[in-house]
Amino acid sequence: MNSTDQNIIEIKRLKAQKNAIILAHYYQTGDVQNIADFVGDSLALSQKAASNSADIILFAGVKFMAETAKILSPLKKVLLPDLDAGCSLANSCNADDFKIFIKDHPGRTIISYVNTNAEIKALSDIICTSSNAVQIVESLPFDEKIIFAPDRNLGNYILNITGRDIIVWNGACHVHEEFSLEALLKLKKENPGAKIIVHPECELPVRMVADFIGSTSLLLKYTKEDNGNCYIVATEVGIIHQMKKENPGKTYLPVPPVDSTCGCSECSFMKLITIEKILNCLKTETPEIIIDNKTLIRAQKPILRMMEISEKLGL
Ligand code: 13P
Ligand code: SF4
Repeated sequence: MNSTDQNIIEIKRLKAQKNAIILAHYYQTGDVQNIADFVGDSLALSQKAASNSADIILFAGVKFMAETAKILSPLKKVLLPDLDAGCSLANSCNADDFKIFIKDHPGRTIISYVNTNAEIKALSDIICTSSNAVQIVESLPFDEKIIFAPDRNLGNYILNITGRDIIVWNGACHVHEEFSLEALLKLKKENPGAKIIVHPECELPVRMVADFIGSTSLLLKYTKEDNGNCYIVATEVGIIHQMKKENPGKTYLPVPPVDSTCGCSECSFMKLITIEKILNCLKTETPEIIIDNKTLIRAQKPILRMMEISEKLGL
């Protein structure tokens, strides 16, 4: 038995002993996804974090996701194996600047993407994920004026679909903004039958050539239900692990970034989580996510509002 197998056995033993669960995002490496109790997109992970009977949630994802779990389950211990697992998109919106932005655009409902730090959630009226953003916006009266933060690409995508009065914060994800349109079109030329599937955090030129745009879980569902057999995938490469697992007979071609060394796009923050770090984190029950009470209580309200709307709409 090699050391990875031993580590996995030890993780399973500690999980059972401590009544812990591992929640993993689709952008985790395949080995991490394989040991998780639940793998999902941001929305599904939030729903799972709010409804489980574990004492400890170990989050295999990035910090804003673990914070969301803590906000939804404040009495549970929430662990993140590496506190440096941040998010360039969440970091593109800091609370001081956002307060000024809100002051400069008074009277607007503040909808923030789940990819934000707890302080930004605490300043928001409703949270959304890429799975429910359009429906959350459409659940509001047509004339309601909105601020959307922090992703400019998702924000403009929602604005175009809904035709609502939305002012968009100028933030972005470094992974989704760096896909090479040229490389994507080359892949399409070499595979004319392939469908182009794109995450809404991608820039407009990439979204414009898409056959389908959706969150990670919607892209996964599309590849499952669609009758094609080859997909050009413009989102973080980790999702392809799940696509192959659920539909092994199909072909998935990752779109590389402009400066590609590995031929695919990886989120360096997501990839900080490893099997070794998960084992160590379960053993020591550190690092733990701690959020001050005031921020936690304020941030809970807009997340619960999202969950209520999602539940009502069956999302
Ligand atoms: P999902 O909402 O599709 O899970 O995406 C989360 C994310 O971090 C995208 O970059
Ligand atoms: Fe953040 Fe982008 Fe990584 Fe998603 S892919 S966690 S938005 S940096």
